[in-house]
Amino acid sequence: MLNNTPSPAPSAEVLLEQFHRSRKYSTDLILNLSTEDCQAQSMEDASPAKWHLAHVTWFYEVMVLKPFEKDFHFWNPAYAVLFNSYYNGVGDKHPRSKRGLLTRPSLAEVLEWRSNIEGRVTALLQEACAPELRWLIQLGINHEQQHQELLLTDIHHLFSNNGLFPIYAAHGQDTPPVKQSFQWLEGISGLVQTGHAGDGFHFDNEGPQHSALNQTHSLGNRLVSNAEWLQFIEDGAYQNFQWWLDAGWAWLQTEKIVAPLYWNTENQGQLCRFSLNGNAPLDLSAPVSNISYFEADAFARWASQNLAGYAGSRLPTEFEWEAFAQAHPESSHDLFGKVWQWTSSNYNPYPGYQPWDGIAGEYNGKFMVNQMVLRGSSAYTPVGHSRLTYRNFFPTNARWQMTGLRLAKDGV
Ligand SMILES: [Fe+2]
Repeated sequence: MLNNTPSPAPSAEVLLEQFHRSRKYSTDLILNLSTEDCQAQSMEDASPAKWHLAHVTWFYEVMVLKPFEKDFHFWNPAYAVLFNSYYNGVGDKHPRSKRGLLTRPSLAEVLEWRSNIEGRVTALLQEACAPELRWLIQLGINHEQQHQELLLTDIHHLFSNNGLFPIYAAHGQDTPPVKQSFQWLEGISGLVQTGHAGDGFHFDNEGPQHSALNQTHSLGNRLVSNAEWLQFIEDGAYQNFQWWLDAGWAWLQTEKIVAPLYWNTENQGQLCRFSLNGNAPLDLSAPVSNISYFEADAFARWASQNLAGYAGSRLPTEFEWEAFAQAHPESSHDLFGKVWQWTSSNYNPYPGYQPWDGIAGEYNGKFMVNQMVLRGSSAYTPVGHSRLTYRNFFPTNARWQMTGLRLAKDGV
């Protein structure tokens, strides 16, 4: 059994159903895309949709079939390099910045490979169901779900670079509004149990469960809205160094940042936000999204001094966020399903953290430097993929993900 995988995987029958559902959802996501849409790479951080579809298939071929299938053979040995993301233990990798240049294999060939691997994983699961095999397939399902969200954020970024402002979905993929008026709620202070301990799948970085000490604090009952962000802009906060971390100030000067990503005035000067639903007038009641850690941090500092009732604002720690989420129903307070929420916590290993054994050990642990933790989930997160203990993480300047914020403050 792999190290640090205490939770038993579901039965082969349950896994099979989850496996097929997740595979189908990936191909459903490209139904509204052309072959050309699936090919392009808009920047180094983003990947072509075709690459995502191929890479999640590569994961099953290398992690599941290679060690467990009798008479294993690669569908095409070259794919092992083309679609390896960052696993040094597997071997060479095609450069990340050049994924968009992979015009071969074609999308049709990638889909054919997907079918082949699906059939072989299905057969394997039907004839052998060792706990370790089932656990790896469960990891494959969760891995594919992560890439489903990335596929959407990467298409969003790609389409934002197109003056036609293509519409990916006519409805259903944008962020639901924040409805409530703002108020502070007392947070859970003292020693709190943080991290995953129970049954059920979780990534290695969510454990082990341990005690964290929360000082007395309060948390916002909802996410920060576009209306509040507009005040931040109109007050000249993007032009005032006093709200910004030094690295953030340098970043916004270099990148000429003056608003969240996807805000624009391309529609006859009207303030709009481009989303997967197309370009539309900015919805002031929606949570602000696609902001960097630097922007979230600056907003909290600005709000503390400029918004009535927001004195003392700062970002929450991930331990404050988790204790708060544990104490409230999942559907309340914009915790899940709208935007990921930046925390002030560095993405560090928890005390006693051990990466998984083997190749999967490269999944999370080696990224634990120079990144901040985000909690919750977004409107693009696949159903069933969010968790109270889930730790998403990105560098301080990343903003092509669905990232927003909730405020916290010391005391009550
Ligand atoms: Fe991956």
